[in-house]
Amino acid sequence: MLITVIGSGYVGLVSAVCLAEMGHQVIAVDSDSDKIAALRRGEVPIYEPLLPELLRRHTGKRLRFSSFPKAAVTASDVVLLAVGTPQSASGEADLSQIEAVCKEIAPVLHRSTLIVEKSTVPVCTCEALRELLLCNGARTGWFSVASNPEFLREGSAVTDFLYPDRIVIGADDEFSSFMLREVYRPLSGGAYYRREEAVPCPARSHLRVRLLVTSVKSAELIKHASNAFLATKISYINTVARLAEIVGADIDEVRAGMGSDPRIGSEFLRAGIGYGGSCFPKDVAAFEAVARRCGIDFRMLRQVAQVNEEQRMLFVDKVRQILGPLMEKRIGVLGLAFKEDTDDVRESPAIAIVRELVRQGARVFAHDPAAMERTRDVLSNIQITYAADPYEAARGSDALLILTAWRQFANLDLQTLHSIMRAPVIFDGRNLFAPEEMAAAGFRYHSVGRQSPLVARPAPLQAGLPTAMGYTVARIAAAAEQASAEAPEIAQLAGEADSALAALTANFPELRPEIAADTRNSDLKAISSTISIHTGRP
Ligand SMILES: NC(=O)c1ccc[n+]([C@@H]2O[C@H](COP(=O)([O-])OP(=O)(O)OC[C@H]3O[C@@H](n4cnc5c(N)ncnc54)[C@H](O)[C@@H]3O)[C@@H](O)[C@H]2O)c1
Repeated sequence: MLITVIGSGYVGLVSAVCLAEMGHQVIAVDSDSDKIAALRRGEVPIYEPLLPELLRRHTGKRLRFSSFPKAAVTASDVVLLAVGTPQSASGEADLSQIEAVCKEIAPVLHRSTLIVEKSTVPVCTCEALRELLLCNGARTGWFSVASNPEFLREGSAVTDFLYPDRIVIGADDEFSSFMLREVYRPLSGGAYYRREEAVPCPARSHLRVRLLVTSVKSAELIKHASNAFLATKISYINTVARLAEIVGADIDEVRAGMGSDPRIGSEFLRAGIGYGGSCFPKDVAAFEAVARRCGIDFRMLRQVAQVNEEQRMLFVDKVRQILGPLMEKRIGVLGLAFKEDTDDVRESPAIAIVRELVRQGARVFAHDPAAMERTRDVLSNIQITYAADPYEAARGSDALLILTAWRQFANLDLQTLHSIMRAPVIFDGRNLFAPEEMAAAGFRYHSVGRQSPLVARPAPLQAGLPTAMGYTVARIAAAAEQASAEAPEIAQLAGEADSALAALTANFPELRPEIAADTRNSDLKAISSTISIHTGRP
């Protein structure tokens, strides 16, 4: 079967490569001639695991590239439309790219051709595209339009495509249904999985593919409804995380308890700085807009989006509360991509947070294993320093922020990290570490929906004020609380507190009145936080 894929971005390129891998002849088309030229030279325009290997395997054999859609379409049995459908100013999906493609290819639809919406589009788009094709020269009876929404996730796109949970075929006629079944037969019939050179099955995937044949409108709805639901789960757990922080519960425990109910499931229940990327934000907005157009007030989705926006700024607020004003603070940032294993920074929460840090006067030193090039383009008007590795980003910093859940960040050498930071303070927006582990390593560790533990070992002394001082006071306060019945220990702790406070007030005379007031009230926790907030030191 000869298949043309129009649009060679994240979805189009992965689809084209995987269809070639499944045994089809494929032409990948894009209007960006530089991209096509680069692909022909063997360059890989996006970071996506396994994509380079498969491109090498098929380019020039079963996979070709072109900037001329008409020629490609004329020869093809099936045409997948995989161009962008970004958000317009009104929140609705901007369908101008897909409409432009339809206008261009309509006059050359002279043999039975199946046009497939692979891009995510609002329900009823199919009807509009049929009309558009007819108005622009396509002949009735010579083409069909079907929907085949794509569920791949960036970072595991190739294996998601080849080992899908389900394949949705939205077909309103026999021809569409037959052709799409043929396209996916190597997977649904299992022939691909029996090949020796097949991409290995990822853990937790299965070799049985579920084909779901629906009407076109149902298929269109399935895609929007799925993405909006997943986004809702994320905003839901993030709201619960806010509550957990306030009452002193642990969101990981809550997630484990909720997620073990199969009706709920634990996927997409990770608290953090919210969702991003090129799909969820725009799809939530587009789904809400399409519902509104149909007279349904899907207000829940407006709140999902609002919670997600707030989540990023709440994280920055937390940083400011602990560090004090951010002006001239040196902040290390780990992660810029909207999620791990991709270079995609579209709608990345990390990018929004970096913008805000810089707006508040912080000096940002950022590292991402794959997304620095794209960040340079997106943040070209903003002064940030790009670090070659995570340690360079952390060196000399007043705090380190983890904003993307790259595996490499979870494997950092904590001792080295501790020794090179100016102050060992970590704000983890992805809950990559266990709080106790970080406390044991000497970090003041703040994450999302979990308590910040007291540091379990003193931080090393630095020039001037020992950074351990604030920590000493905090530890004394906690120990005093725990041992309230044991008078001798409290007396001893009080003695330690006195000498710690004497050293602090000698170094920061301006804090004396506040500390004195807190001391009179024996409010050692307040003393500790007064010192942290005013000095920016833990
Ligand atoms: N990125 C994802 O993870 C993902 C997952 C599922 C579905 N989707 C959906 O798939 C669609 C594509 O998303 P993407 O992330 O691949 O977008 P993208 O921006 O990475 O790629 C779109 C490509 O289309 C090309 N293009 C635009 N107009 C064209 C034209 N007239 N002719 C030929 N090429 C043209 C662009 O040059 C670009 O290379 C969107 O509707 C998106 O919602 C994306």
